[in-house]
Amino acid sequence: MLFLPQQGRLTLLTEMGRIDVGPGQVALVPRGVRFRALLPDGQARGYVAENHGSLFRLPDLGPIGSNGLANARDFATPTAAFEDVDGPFELIQKYLGRLWTTTLEHSPLDVVAWHGNLVPWRYDLSRFNTIGTVSFDHPDPSIFTVLTSPSDIPGRANADFVIFPPRWMVAEDTFRPPWFHRNVMSECMGLIEGAYDAKADGFAPGAMSVHNLMAGHGPDVASWRAASEAELKPHKIEGTMAFMVESCWPFRPTEYALSCEALQKDYDAAWGGFPKAQLP
Ligand SMILES: [Fe+2]
Repeated sequence: MLFLPQQGRLTLLTEMGRIDVGPGQVALVPRGVRFRALLPDGQARGYVAENHGSLFRLPDLGPIGSNGLANARDFATPTAAFEDVDGPFELIQKYLGRLWTTTLEHSPLDVVAWHGNLVPWRYDLSRFNTIGTVSFDHPDPSIFTVLTSPSDIPGRANADFVIFPPRWMVAEDTFRPPWFHRNVMSECMGLIEGAYDAKADGFAPGAMSVHNLMAGHGPDVASWRAASEAELKPHKIEGTMAFMVESCWPFRPTEYALSCEALQKDYDAAWGGFPKAQLP
């Protein structure tokens, strides 16, 4: 499970130790690892991505070389900790899509030492070495991949975790935001803070947008007009952190999501009102 706090911190007490994680950071607890989540600020809000495929790992860097994007050195392992507490502890496990519970006579977080390589970790998103174009064109968002869970088909990941951090935009002769597109991947986006450069409004921090495979999408009218008319001098996108979990599988909203008051029923109205191109 990949945890992305958006408001408020989380403390994850795991069998391998303790992780404190807040907005701007992400943490991962591998499947099968027992943990307890505490809310040091009283409450917390954020996103969780549950990966049922191959383990998340750093992407192959290809021509980038040996360093870049997320570097292995920046993934922090838990602070050593254990608890020696007797008493009834409810242990909840997910199996075959259902939650199961049992009661233990002692805390399962009583592991005093461990070694291995399947370990919870925390990563600070500001450590991401963002790479983009220095000439022209809008690169595919795969250039922002933090972690990937590959599938059997190259280019169609079971899940890619991608971020859109603060960065310089310097492309010339280019429409800089994402253009209109549809693709074989499903895109689930969230916003930790700030604004996303392809949505003028309607995509608030804490919100989520879903574009399933082959669903056409792109910037709204206001973002399109602003980017089309902008003078293309170097520009820094600041104070923002958007992310995407992209998958070869369709995302199916829960009943809760579809009946939620915050559901934006006219979402596709963002693409209404585009003027026809005036051909010369
Ligand atoms: Fe997209």
